[in-house]
This record gives sequence, C-alpha cells and structure tokens, in this order.
Amino acid sequence: MVRISLLLLCLLVSTLLFTSSSAQQAPAFVSLDCGGTEPFTDELGLKWSPDNHLIYGETANISTSFNETRTQYTTLRHFPADSRKYCYNLSVISRNRYLLRATFLYGDFDHNNVYPKFDISLGATHWANIAISEASTIEMAELVFLATSSSVSVCLSNATTGQPFISTLELRQLNGSMYTTDFEDRFYLSVAARINFGAESEDPVRYPDDPFDRIWQSDLLKKANYLVDVAAGTVRVSTTLPIEGYADDLPPQKVMQTAVVGTNGSLTYRMNLEGFPGFGRAYTYFAEIEDLAEDESRKFRLVLPDHPEISKAIVNVKENAQRAYRTYEPGFNNLTLPFVLNFRFAKTADSSRGPILNAMEISKYLKKSDGSIDATVMANIASLYSSTEWGQEGGDPCLPSPWSWVECNSDPQPRVVAVKLSNMNLTGNIPSDLAKLTGLVELWLDGNSFTGPIPDFSRCINLEIIHLENNQLTGKIPSSLAKLPNLKELYLQNNLLSGKIPSVAENVISNFSGNIYLSKRGDKGKKLGVIIGASIGAAVLLIVTIVSCICMCRGKKNNKMRKTSAELTNRTLPVQRVSSTLSEAHGDAAHCFTLYEIEEATKKFEKRIGSGGFGIVYYGITKEGKEIAVKVLANNSYQGKREFANEVTLLSRIHHRNLVQFLGYCQEEGRNMLVYEFMHNGTLKEHLYGVVPRDRRISWIKRLEIAEDAARGMVKPSQKQDRNLSWYYISQQLTEKSDVYSFGVILLELISGQEAISNENFGVNCRNIVQWAKMHIDNGDIRGIIDPALAEDDYSLQSMWKIAEKALLCVKPHGNMRPSMSEVQKDVQDAIRIEKEALAARGGISDEFSRSSAHSSSLNMGTTYDLAGSQNYVSIDDSVLQPTPR
Ligand SMILES: *[C@@H]1O[C@H](CO)[C@@H](O)[C@H](O)[C@H]1NC(C)=O
Ligand SMILES: *[C@@H]1O[C@H](CO)[C@@H](O)[C@H](O)[C@H]1NC(C)=O
Ligand SMILES: *[C@@H]1O[C@H](CO)[C@@H](O)[C@H](O)[C@H]1NC(C)=O
Ligand SMILES: *[C@@H]1O[C@H](CO)[C@@H](O)[C@H](O)[C@H]1NC(C)=O
Ligand SMILES: *[C@@H]1O[C@H](CO)[C@@H](O)[C@H](O)[C@H]1NC(C)=O
Ligand SMILES: *[C@@H]1O[C@H](CO)[C@@H](O)[C@H](O)[C@H]1NC(C)=O
Ligand SMILES: *[C@@H]1O[C@H](CO)[C@@H](O)[C@H](O)[C@H]1NC(C)=O
Ligand SMILES: *[C@@H]1O[C@H](CO)[C@@H](O)[C@H](O)[C@H]1NC(C)=O
Ligand SMILES: *[C@@H]1O[C@H](CO)[C@@H](O)[C@H](O)[C@H]1NC(C)=O
Repeated sequence: MVRISLLLLCLLVSTLLFTSSSAQQAPAFVSLDCGGTEPFTDELGLKWSPDNHLIYGETANISTSFNETRTQYTTLRHFPADSRKYCYNLSVISRNRYLLRATFLYGDFDHNNVYPKFDISLGATHWANIAISEASTIEMAELVFLATSSSVSVCLSNATTGQPFISTLELRQLNGSMYTTDFEDRFYLSVAARINFGAESEDPVRYPDDPFDRIWQSDLLKKANYLVDVAAGTVRVSTTLPIEGYADDLPPQKVMQTAVVGTNGSLTYRMNLEGFPGFGRAYTYFAEIEDLAEDESRKFRLVLPDHPEISKAIVNVKENAQRAYRTYEPGFNNLTLPFVLNFRFAKTADSSRGPILNAMEISKYLKKSDGSIDATVMANIASLYSSTEWGQEGGDPCLPSPWSWVECNSDPQPRVVAVKLSNMNLTGNIPSDLAKLTGLVELWLDGNSFTGPIPDFSRCINLEIIHLENNQLTGKIPSSLAKLPNLKELYLQNNLLSGKIPSVAENVISNFSGNIYLSKRGDKGKKLGVIIGASIGAAVLLIVTIVSCICMCRGKKNNKMRKTSAELTNRTLPVQRVSSTLSEAHGDAAHCFTLYEIEEATKKFEKRIGSGGFGIVYYGITKEGKEIAVKVLANNSYQGKREFANEVTLLSRIHHRNLVQFLGYCQEEGRNMLVYEFMHNGTLKEHLYGVVPRDRRISWIKRLEIAEDAARGMVKPSQKQDRNLSWYYISQQLTEKSDVYSFGVILLELISGQEAISNENFGVNCRNIVQWAKMHIDNGDIRGIIDPALAEDDYSLQSMWKIAEKALLCVKPHGNMRPSMSEVQKDVQDAIRIEKEALAARGGISDEFSRSSAHSSSLNMGTTYDLAGSQNYVSIDDSVLQPTPR
C-alpha cells in the first residue's frame, strides 16, 4: 500500500514537473554551444548555453569564410590529441528516454594539414567514429537512450588524426514511451536515417515543427550515396490539409504533408546506412495525401533484396490508416540491414496508383558496454577529489580509455590494475574504497600528505607494488599488508607509523625507515637481509634493465634485417617495427629511421636533389644498398610532433608499395624527415604531371591499364595459398582495406593528374585530393577533376564516372565501407572495356595495339616485379607509350 501511494506520488510529481516544464518552452532540452561564451536563443527558439564550465579543452572560432551564421556553429571546443578522453557530464532523469545529438563543424579551426578523426562514446559505450572529410560539412551523431542514472557522460577520445573537437551537444527529453524497444536495457538506438520524403527544400524539419527536435532530413539533401538510384517517374506531392493520427512517435505533420509517389509503379532508393550492417529498427510512415477517386486504389509491397519474406505484406495506405490524411506506420523492431541499403516499393498488379512514401526512420541497435567492474568504486574515489582536474575526468574509469591516473587491464569488462597518485598534494585519509579494487596490482600514493591509518588491503591479493612513503600516515602497519601473496615492493618510509615492523618475504623490497615511532626489529640479521635483499633487488633490476635494453636494440636490428630480407623476397610484407606514436590504430606502418642512419645514408646531407616550399630533398644510400630520397621538412612546415605523426600516418595510407614507396620517417633533434624510395626513372606522378612534356602524357586508357595492373598486383598476394605463414595472412588481412584506400587515391591521381597532397592545387577548403575530388563528384562535376592534359575525345565520360565513383568508395573513412580489391579491379576492367568499345567505334585503335601495350605496362609495374622482388617502382618510360613487339 505504501509502495503504491509512493508510486502514485512519484507519478504525480513527475507529471507536474513535466507539465510545468513543457508549458515553458522545452526546458527538457539541453543545448550546449561548445566553445561559446554567452547564452542565446536561436531563430528556432532553442535556448543555447555555453560550455564554459568545462575545465578541459580550448575554444576556437570558425573563420567567417565558411559562411556559417548560426551562432552555435561559429565556435567549437577542441581537445589535445593525446590518448586521454575528454567528457561532458549531462544531468538526466533516470528511467526517461532521451535523444542525444552531437555535431561537428570542423571549419579548419586549427589550420592543420589533416582532417580530425576520433571517437565519441556515451559512458563506456563506443558510439561513433567521427571522421571529418570536408571542412564545411556538419557531421552529426545521434542516439536514443534510456537513462539509468542521474547523469550521463559523452566523451571524445582516440585522436587518430588531428584534434578531437565538438560544435554542439544537444539533449532532448522524449515523452512517455516514445522509442521504447524490447532491447533498451542492453542496446542504444543509434540513428542512421530519418528522412522527410518530398521535402520542399534542402532544409531539415525540426523544432518547433517536431516538439522533440528530431531532425527530419530532406530527401533533397546533397550527400554522397544518399537516396540515389531514384526510379524514373518519381514525383513529389504535398498538401496543406492537416494529417490526422498524431502520436509522439510519429513524424510531425509538416513531414507527413509531403511525399514521393512512384507514378510508374515503383519507388526505388539506395543509400548508405552509417554503422550498419547490423540489427536495426526501421519504420516507414505513409499517409494518403492525394485525392483518389472512388474506384482508385493504392496498394504496394516493400521489396528488400535480403528479405523476401517482407515482400509478402501489402500496404494499402488508406485502408491501413482507416482513411486518407491519416498516418499509417508499419515498421520492424529488429531487422538485419546492410550498409548499402537498396529498397523498393512496388505497386501490386491490381492497384491503380503507384506507391507513396512520406517518411522513414532507421536506427541501429548499438550494444551497451557493461563498463569496467570498478566503475562505481572509482566514481566514489574520484568524487572525493571533485575539485581537482583529475577528479572530474568523467565517464568510465577504463573505457574507452582510462583516466589519466589509472591503468586498467584489457578484459572485456576491465578492472583497474594501477592507481597512480604520487605527489598530488592529497590530504586526509587514504580512501578506504581503494581497498575494494580487488584487481589492483600497483598502488602509488607516495609524496602526499595522507594522514590516518593504512586501510586493510587484504582483499587486493594481486597487489605487487605499494608506495605509501613520504606521507603522514599513522597507526600500525596492518600485518596483512606484508603478507600479500604477490608483494614485490613495499615502501612505507618517512611516515608516522608506529608499532612493529612486520616481517616481509625475502624477495620483497621494502623500506620502513624514517618512521620515528616504529620499533626496530631486534634481529640484525634480518635487517641486513632487508638491505641485502634490497641491494640485490636493485642489482637485479639494473641487470634486467640492461638486458632488456640490449634485447630491444637487438630486436631493432633483427627487425631491420627482417625487413630487408622481407623486401628481397616479397615486398608486400608489412614493416614490423613501428614507432608507438605513429602506429596507432592503422594497419599501415611506417619505419622510424634514426638520425644517425639518415646521416650515414646521405653522407651528412651531401647531395641535394630537389627543394620546394616544404624543404629540401637529399639523395642517400642505406647500409643495405637501397637508394633513398630524404625530404627534410622546413622547420615551419610542421608545428609539432602530432602534426608530423598525422602526416606520416596519412602518407603510409596513401603511398602504395606498387607506386612511390614511402619508406619511413625520422624525427630527431627537432628535425622532421620523410624517407622515400629513390626513383631513377621518375615516378608515376612525374609522368602524369611532372617533368614529362604534355604531349607525352599518358592517355586515359593507358592509365586504366596501369590501374588494372596495379590492382592485379594487389589482389594476387592475398590469394596466394602456398605462403604458409599465418602471421603473413593476418597482416595481409589487416592491410587489405588500407590498400584499397591507397588504390582509391591512385585512381583519383590517374583521373586528375594531381598529386595526392598539395597546398596549392585544391583550393581553400581542401588540402588533399580526396576532399577535392569528393567535393566535385558529389556536385556531379566530374569535368572539374579530369586532367586537363587529357583531350576531350580521349576518354568517355561513362568510364570516368565509373572510376571516379569507385575511387570515392575506396577512400571511405571506414575500412568496412570500402569495396574489396577484386571488386575495384573488376570495375577498372569494365572501364577499359568501355574505352575500347568507344575507341573501336571511333575507329581509333586496333586490338593489336591495346593488347601489346597492356602487356608492357604490366611488365613495368605489376606482379612481375612484385614477385621478383627487385626494383619495385612504377617506371612508365617510353616503352609503355609505344606498342612493344613481343
Ligand atoms: C573568438 O571570437 C570572439 C569574439 O570575436 C573573441 O572574443 C575570442 O577571443 C575568439 N576566440 C578565439 C579562441 O580566438
Ligand atoms: C562562402 O560564400 C562565398 C560567396 O558566396 C563563396 O564564394 C564561398 O565559396 C563560400 N565558402 C564556403 C566555404 O562555402
Ligand atoms: C507528452 O505526453 C503527454 C501524455 O501522453 C501528452 O499529453 C503531451 O502532449 C506530450 N507532450 C508533448 C510535448 O508531446
Ligand atoms: C514507365 O514504365 C514503362 C514500362 O516499364 C516504360 O516503358 C516507361 O519508359 C516508363 N516511364 C518512365 C517515365 O520512366
Ligand atoms: C534481433 O534478432 C536477433 C536474431 O534474429 C537477435 O540475435 C538479437 O539479439 C535481436 N536484437 C537485437 C537488438 O539485436
Ligand atoms: C555529473 O553531474 C552529476 C549531477 O550534476 C554529479 O552528481 C556527478 O558527480 C557528475 N559527474 C562527474 C564525473 O563529474
Ligand atoms: C602541490 O602544491 C604545490 C604548492 O601549493 C603546487 O606548487 C603544486 O603544483 C601542487 N601539485 C599538484 C600536483 O597539485
Ligand atoms: C629507505 O628510505 C630512506 C629514506 O628515503 C633512504 O635514505 C634509504 O636509502 C632507503 N633504503 C633502502 C634500502 O632503499
Ligand atoms: C581508434 O580509431 C580507429 C579508427 O579511427 C579504430 O580502428 C580503433 O579501433 C580505435 N581505437 C580504440 C582504442 O578504440
């Protein structure tokens, strides 16, 4: 009875709270203007507040040249590109559902060469990877979640390239049971598409039309792979009459008042679904908004390639909704969907009208992380120090990356294994919660002003290293402390401890000195033992250090030798030794040269072979006899370590081994150098747009053949069955998708004759070929990227388009969105076929010519050299340009 009335009271209170809040204009909304300074209300009536309470990160302004006038997008907050996470803490009401939206407008805030790429997480759950590909495009991540506590944290981490940043963070409380799913305790709903069909403009419909400020994207929006392959006969219809059947879950009326109709019998669309393949929730929204005559009907089926069972159901909009101008919303609560979604609505034979579609919403089920086991205990500990920076890092202590003063193991549900709070000016008692961290291996609390007794750590049986020295700890030393089964180091010196020194095992290094109230152990032998033990320990440590140093150096050498021999036998082996700052999450690898190696190879930078705004290029020969070109970057061309690291990462993504080979880098004594293979015969680049005169530039069909050969060279090794080394397979697997990326860049280079990275060629908003080409291709302007050296009658636009579209797929930010190498190869072959047919139609080429020329190009760059393992560069010399008799 008491419980029921309590429940009623709660209901009452929350209803009161809600009505009072919804009467005012949506205070259940939180809109953070990241980097902003003043609160303001935007033109939609949304109230924005600055995030200036945040102690982390720095603010930046977006240049006005980006034409972005909405105040919330003129500023942003960015964070250091390190291995930490940076969190926002948002208050929520437990057991309520929310829509959470984060947006990112890069706007070249840092004038960097590399677009930022980082992760965003909700609490311990990885939410999305944010990969900026255009400075002026607003990236957005959205999810729906059920709050389970009174706050949630949204964190940015894993700076792969550039600096993590954020423009806005928006939290919208949903009403009642909106977006309830059977899986909401274990899954978030990550929004992949919310589309308003038949929209009147490119602008989305959102607040105040949608009281929950869901963003209904216009179907007119120009975005790559968004609603393409539209069937002929698709028309846009709209009405001003009201649409009935309003419920919170349904789209707002404005969205339902417009639609598309397949006048020729079907509606078809293709689009990419971010985050998929996976299980998702998919809803379609229909309302009859055309006036049908008595004898007319509109009946259709949904056709999904992988779901034949779905096509059985017939939609009869008017009948299902009970009347016209009323919403009907069939949907699937758990459907497997692919990344590339093709869907079709097809009219039934007995229907007089084609299908109609007003709106659609697709979300992916995003598995919630359980978080680390010690999350609650650690939150309690951190809350004791909430005024310090490290005490308010927020989020999970371990996931997706640990707090700065914590180390965790890599279990699926991680545990805290080290707490490192040396010299932090901490006072008061040692938090007793620390003793609940049963996975703890190292505890560093030395050099503080802790007072009071040492807590009982007897449950922390993994503890190996305990540093409590240089505090003001009092009381007896718990006997359990010295008896911890795995103890290796116990430092308690310079405290105010009293009682007896406990006996410790022989192999434990310990120090109890400087505790004036601690009674010495009578047994001199034992004390001597401690000292001897300690010295032996120190000596062992020293030896271990020396030995491991030697091993590391050996390892270095071995790796280098391995690398060289690998190069001799097969160039496709990935370089093994990778600098830890540069390897990061990529499968790509770059070798770190020492300055000494470079100086030796270049004879202290003796022979200068080129120069430019970036710096000077020197010639060199490595100890292994390999000729190299060393680009010494001008001091001002890179601001810092991180930028250089980004550039190296980018280069190792872009330069494929079959073309100009990027060998590695050197970063010592403030100098940044990039090392390439030296090319005697010039590179593909030079032949495309370099020193070779225009009239000798390579034709389009020749470029396609070069691409085909390179593709063949890349497809082959991974299919070779006789290489019985499993690590080889694994690394090959790892690099396949990054090879596809490199190949996409090569295709763009072949189309445009442009270098992959250039400060001048791509205009203000693009710094590399990918952004530049994408911008043109997305705008349907393929001519804008075609090499001007190619005569108009030298190529067919059809094959250009084919290659350009494939190239853009290859350079998709996520590996899993990229096509396979053999798929790309097939398209290149198709393009060659198109060109040959076109040439034949023009009577311009004989079969004889194309066959022999294809052959010679493969001689120069493809598999032949790859397997022989000698010189491996593209040398497109005159022999390629002329038919070679065979
Ligand atoms: C951004 O612009 C505002 C107003 O023009 C200025 O006060 C502020 O200092 C700028 N912030 C940065 C980081 O440049
Ligand atoms: C901003 O507007 C100007 C003038 O309309 C235009 O030339 C420029 O390209 C725009 N900049 C961006 C980044 O869209
Ligand atoms: C929320 O739900 C209540 C009860 O169903 C309803 O009366 C109210 O209008 C809804 N609020 C909004 C903003 O839709
Ligand atoms: C409509 O479909 C018919 C038969 O499938 C076809 O012949 C016609 O060209 C189509 N009309 C349009 C506008 O696509
Ligand atoms: C959806 O269905 C599949 C089986 O078809 C099941 O494994 C999965 O747990 C369901 N729910 C979600 C959220 O994926
Ligand atoms: C987040 O905010 C809530 C309530 O405002 C507070 O109780 C909690 O301690 C905060 N968490 C962190 C990590 O600051
Ligand atoms: C500790 O306090 C001293 C003196 O107040 C200060 O200089 C130092 O920065 C503090 N250290 C930390 C880690 O807070
Ligand atoms: C123990 O600590 C004291 C004070 O820091 C130091 O002088 C002494 O060398 C240490 N003893 C050992 C064996 O490490
Ligand atoms: C960091 O991001 C990259 C992709 O950008 C991803 O492959 C990698 O797994 C991420 N690392 C972590 C620790 O999440």
